[in-house]
Amino acid sequence: MSVHRRPAGDWEGVRLHIVTGKGGTGKTTLAAAWALALASDGRRVLLAECEGRQGIAKLFDAPPLPYAERKLAVAPGEGMVYGLAIDPEQALLEYLEMYYHLGRAGRVLQRVGAVDFAATIAPGLRDVLLTGKVYEATRRRFGEHRPARTAARISVDGKTPADGYVYDAVVLDAPPTGRIARFLNVNAAVADLARVGPINRQAESIMTLIRSPMTAVHLVTVLEEMPVQETVDGIAELQRHRIPVGAVVVNRVRPEVLPSDLLRTAARGRIDTACLQRGLTKLALPAGEEIAARLAEEMTDAARIGVRQRRLRTVLGETGRPMYQLPESDVDDIARLYVLAAELRAQGVA
Ligand SMILES: Nc1ncnc2c1ncn2[C@@H]1O[C@H](COP(=O)(O)OP(=O)(O)OP(=O)(O)O)[C@@H](O)[C@H]1O
Ligand SMILES: [Mg+2]
Repeated sequence: MSVHRRPAGDWEGVRLHIVTGKGGTGKTTLAAAWALALASDGRRVLLAECEGRQGIAKLFDAPPLPYAERKLAVAPGEGMVYGLAIDPEQALLEYLEMYYHLGRAGRVLQRVGAVDFAATIAPGLRDVLLTGKVYEATRRRFGEHRPARTAARISVDGKTPADGYVYDAVVLDAPPTGRIARFLNVNAAVADLARVGPINRQAESIMTLIRSPMTAVHLVTVLEEMPVQETVDGIAELQRHRIPVGAVVVNRVRPEVLPSDLLRTAARGRIDTACLQRGLTKLALPAGEEIAARLAEEMTDAARIGVRQRRLRTVLGETGRPMYQLPESDVDDIARLYVLAAELRAQGVA
């Protein structure tokens, strides 16, 4: 398996890591493993989700996350991953409280707003609120006004980090590739609508962060036709919106069992069954003609998958993005996250 090894700390300047990819390819898994990898060696990382699915809690076998930052997992070397499920309605109330001191008005709003906020709100406004919260958490510093509703109580034993940031990094389990560019670009649209004033300033600040080298959007995929195509298209779309693309992560990679020359021969269906029979006999295995023919057929199927995976890996390589590969892992969910985090670290993520 060819692994693109990167020097340690390749993402050092990046504070906001956004994980996207086709549905079901491993966004939540990767976001969690990535957060654990970044949190190693005493760092503090916030792992946030924004789709109201409680995917993070399920993954860590924890009770549903409230709209509050909670300790979620200890990373190797005493690092800490905090978890947060961002809820658009709570984010709005928090925003009114923080910036307009509308605590009581917010509560009234909550009481009269008997309708289901999340279901009625326009998708664009929901994205404004979600990205706004991500922005706030990414930029929060010690000693600054912090949101009473959500901020974790983090003590630093009198030792404030040099840059003053509460979190060394924020990792967002983000919407899938099909919606990511629109999601991250929503504040550009807001800034266009409100050309002056506080809403414009807030929207401009969020876009500035998202387009800065402090942000990277990582795309997770598996080696299948559709997810790879979505990855390639997703990268192009993000680049069109001037949003910084980070790594491509190939998930669920299985080791190749056949060497290159044999792989090609097998994929063409040109396996010498007589030779196969001799090999089976040598190993004292059943070596009938029918068995050898069936085995050859299976080898051909496996080899075709192998050849396709190589081709897809080349397609991904042509995007020019740094690439990491994560193995298919059959241990249980939580153990898997630590295995994958160690793998990411070994490949140079942190
Ligand atoms: N490296 C891996 N090895 C084995 N199983 C994996 C691996 N990565 C992910 N999975 C499994 O694949 C499934 C999908 O993963 P995950 O939930 O992380 O994907 P997702 O992209 O977040 O999905 P959704 O689009 O539904 O949010 C899960 O059952 C997960 O346990
Ligand atoms: Mg998910």
